[in-house]
Amino acid sequence: MTYPKHVAAFLAITGQRLPFIQAPIGSGATPDLVIAVSKAGGLGGLGLTWDSPDAVAATVARLRQALPGLAFFANFVLHFPCDGFDAALEAGVPVVTLSWGIDAARIARAHRVGTKVGVQVGSTEGARQALAAGADFVIAQGVEAGGHVQSTTPLATLLPQVVAVAGDRPVVATGGIASADAILRVIAAGAAGVMLGTRFLATREAGAHPDYKAALVSARPEDTAFTNCFDIDWPFAMHRVLRNSTFSAWEAAGSPQPPHRPGEGDIVFRQNGVDHVRYSIMEPGPDAKGDLLGACLYAGTGVGDIDRIEGAGDLVTRWGAEVQLALRQTRQERVTA
Ligand SMILES: Cc1cc2nc3c(=O)[nH]c(=O)nc-3n(C[C@H](O)[C@H](O)[C@H](O)COP(=O)(O)O)c2cc1C
Repeated sequence: MTYPKHVAAFLAITGQRLPFIQAPIGSGATPDLVIAVSKAGGLGGLGLTWDSPDAVAATVARLRQALPGLAFFANFVLHFPCDGFDAALEAGVPVVTLSWGIDAARIARAHRVGTKVGVQVGSTEGARQALAAGADFVIAQGVEAGGHVQSTTPLATLLPQVVAVAGDRPVVATGGIASADAILRVIAAGAAGVMLGTRFLATREAGAHPDYKAALVSARPEDTAFTNCFDIDWPFAMHRVLRNSTFSAWEAAGSPQPPHRPGEGDIVFRQNGVDHVRYSIMEPGPDAKGDLLGACLYAGTGVGDIDRIEGAGDLVTRWGAEVQLALRQTRQERVTA
């Protein structure tokens, strides 16, 4: 398949075959998910922000062994210390992505060992800074995104602006994308690749509780909220979640600030021997017990396009075929016009 030039340039940087990235989706991004996505030709990745250097080295070694010659990435949220960043580089991670901060020194250290770097940004100014700091590609995040959201701008507005400042460096689009049609739309608008988070949460390999996955399948875009409601352990960072009982009670009370929120301090679920309180940023994993649907349920506006739980590899393969067919048809139409 010959992709448009800007897409081919991005694939050459990361070494993946298809222009899809599975976003770092917290504990939802399991090694099995990463392996399924990367084996199918996409770029799978894990969030390693909170892991110790030893744990990071072990995870990277495991993925390198499972994915010989195939790319994958580690994500680091720079708001936190990211103690395992250099261990990931030493262990030979092929690609890292950074978010919630730009760090030219870390990018330079990555480049010294041949690791490529993508930086997620939420504005044109952020993109300029990321490019000046040496990013190999930038990830333009629209306000439609699930999880923590750096952006306040719709992707359709932000993407062409970031493409305009990026010159020949690739721009990956993310936020609210969950179908082959949406992927094709952003590629037509100049994206060299697409990163999807919420869609990959609703896959068999994702480490999310089954009730959370089912809630994603039945949700509509208007069931999500862009808010600062779930802030315990990470205050002042906007996020997009499903409107659930906790969110609705807080909204109905006039969106009070801590410690005046309804149900403040309640234990909502327990997981791996740890209690998680209402308004915590933690989403429920497969073994969580309690009021799971009252917990923080990250979701982007693309939920309306999620109609089933399926294998991540099947999803990537299906999108690959659909996107390649559509791009081929567009090219033929241009040739015959
Ligand atoms: C459950 C969940 C957890 C996330 N955790 C991270 C993270 O640790 N680091 C990060 O850079 N982005 C994180 N994100 C945001 C993604 O990088 C991406 O911007 C987002 O998923 C794109 O929007 P979408 O979910 O609508 O596809 C997370 C998103 C979700 C849904």
